[in-house]
Amino acid sequence: MSRPAILVTRRLPPEVEARLGERFDASLNPDDTPPGPTALRRALSRYDGILCTVTDRIDAELLSVEPLRARILANFGVGYEHIDVDAARARGIIVTNTPGVLTAATADLAIMLMLMAARRAGEGERELRDGRWAGWRPTHMIGRPVAGRTLGIIGMGRIGSAVAHRASRGFAMRVLYCTRSAPRDAPAGAESVTLDALLQSSDVVSIHCPATPETRRLIDDDRLRRMRPHAVLVNTARGEIVDEAALAAALRDGVIGAAGLDVYEREPAVHPDLLRLENVVLLPHLGSATTEARVAMGLRAVENLRAYFAGEAVSDPVPAR
Ligand code: DGY
Repeated sequence: MSRPAILVTRRLPPEVEARLGERFDASLNPDDTPPGPTALRRALSRYDGILCTVTDRIDAELLSVEPLRARILANFGVGYEHIDVDAARARGIIVTNTPGVLTAATADLAIMLMLMAARRAGEGERELRDGRWAGWRPTHMIGRPVAGRTLGIIGMGRIGSAVAHRASRGFAMRVLYCTRSAPRDAPAGAESVTLDALLQSSDVVSIHCPATPETRRLIDDDRLRRMRPHAVLVNTARGEIVDEAALAAALRDGVIGAAGLDVYEREPAVHPDLLRLENVVLLPHLGSATTEARVAMGLRAVENLRAYFAGEAVSDPVPAR
């Protein structure tokens, strides 16, 4: 019996590519060049499944292709806003993701951004590397502590909860949160509040909700103005949730104190005003970038493909909107 044909849109860890080769007629991408819309559209006609990533936009237009052969889109990653899940479902295509396995890596990175932004680590490193450091002095590059302060979590799912636990256990932070669905494993003492109350009372605000039409530009000029003037904004979720131009203006004008960003509205582009500011730490979407997380994500995507083509229930079908 012929094996299902799978297009793999990006380079994956070697053990994941090896596993794919054992089970499928897998077309790998050794050059790691992202396929554009034309190649993706062709792939939907030619392959039984696509193992895709956040850099592959698969919208209703692409999914209207004729003839259609693909039956599963196995996303390598937890966020799936780049796939029109309703349009896929309407054409009988199942979409899966890889929740859970990148929680620790992403939560660690959120804590790192919080500390880097609060303690001016990026600014300090730039000064030193540029040869501008004049030596130790009592008034040099003074930051703010995070221990014992208040952390506001927007979106108390797996990653939000992991950040909350790290902050309350490791840094004795008071945790406030607001969340659309039932909170997952909030630490003892964490308080559920409205978004407004969270913005007004937090020293650090960390975003962990998915990108949906409702959360698009949730943090805009108006909401930034409700934050405390020294507050730090951390975003490891999705760039679309923050109005980048409004954030740059707020950082420039002292409306908030600092920010730590791992995700952007139009990746890989970053708003030019952000690039000019010292009080923002900018990382290139590294949240899940540990060997452990990336291998686990890949193996999870392969397992979803295996289960689907074996006629079994897949572990990670993404829910309908
Ligand atoms: C995720 O898993 O959503 C990461 O951001 C990579 O896509």
